Amino acid sequence: MAFKVTPWEVEGDIDYEKLIKKFGLDLIEDNILKKIKDITGDNHFMLQRKIFFAHRDLDFILKEYKKGNKFYLYTGRGPSENLHLGHLMPLKFTKYIQEKFGVKCYIQLTDDEKFLFKDKLSLEDTKKMAYENALDIIALGFNKKNTKIIIDTEYAKTLYNHAIKVAKKITFSTAKAVFGFKNSSNIGQIFYTSMQAVPAFLESEKKGKNIPCLIPHGVDQDPHFRVSRDVLPKLGYMKPASIQCKLMPGLLEGGKMSASVPKSAIFTTDSPKQVQDKIQNAFSGGKETLKEHREKGGNPDIDIPFQYLKFFFEPDNKRLKKIEEDYREGKILTGELKQITVEKINNFLEKHRKEREKAKKKLDNFLLKD
Ligand code: TRP
Repeated sequence: MAFKVTPWEVEGDIDYEKLIKKFGLDLIEDNILKKIKDITGDNHFMLQRKIFFAHRDLDFILKEYKKGNKFYLYTGRGPSENLHLGHLMPLKFTKYIQEKFGVKCYIQLTDDEKFLFKDKLSLEDTKKMAYENALDIIALGFNKKNTKIIIDTEYAKTLYNHAIKVAKKITFSTAKAVFGFKNSSNIGQIFYTSMQAVPAFLESEKKGKNIPCLIPHGVDQDPHFRVSRDVLPKLGYMKPASIQCKLMPGLLEGGKMSASVPKSAIFTTDSPKQVQDKIQNAFSGGKETLKEHREKGGNPDIDIPFQYLKFFFEPDNKRLKKIEEDYREGKILTGELKQITVEKINNFLEKHRKEREKAKKKLDNFLLKD
């Protein structure tokens, strides 16, 4: 089946093997996992399960780190809507890496991007949403000393001064080839990738020397960083390294969790009842009848509630495996699996909501403004 993955559109069932070839990414192989484990003592379950599945230059980052040359992290989020679970996943992973390696992190909230790419949203809307999203990010427990959040329009002077240097090195034909722009695309869209490139060298700029940068991100964002990797050396900076995750599947059959399709996603702002209802209606790998399910078992590989446990909510490998096996053998029913997932999500969200409230007081410690 055909699929499409661009920074602004993801459609169909993604064949990640094909995507790796198409984008020119490296698979995260066991030897890299071993190198990470040698440094940090373990591997995050998202690495073990190949949810973070691909990278560029991760071996370089680890080699430099071992020599005492620390990297910094950079990730981001386009604030068009409230955050859903698919957005929290890479952010949570980033926080883990920050903690394990003790490194600095920039998180970019691109209110400018969402304004330029979403017809219906005003700049006021996206800016407001950037502040809302910042609360969710802080709620994940990022360290305030080491983490800086950038809302593009609030740090515009600094960003613009660097972005124009990037922009000067990108031709219109490159932008068209990489992102598929047309003559009818607005010119802000064509410029935008140079804004997303800036945090990939901002720390080097601030420190006055080259510092390696590692970007954890959903694989759909790779085209931006392909361009950055091409341009940054021309400006005297290092190529940023990156580590890519799969996109969390949506609640409905096929496709990813998408904020613009509210029925496909569970938002951090959903009530326990909404979570219950959404998981109840989620696409299942269970059999039609109880009898058939008990006899033939369910299919966790296509079962959305199971996938959420795997992507995020059951970090314990043994417990996940037991659920997977029991489901395959028909010992666990679809309704039971859904209930396990609802409880895990609601427990997580209950804590998250409390932390999100507390984050309101912490916001100023995190935001960069010029
Ligand atoms: N363009 C991204 C989005 O729409 C937001 C973003 C900016 C980002 N910088 C990033 C995502 C760095 C990952 C890494 O979500």
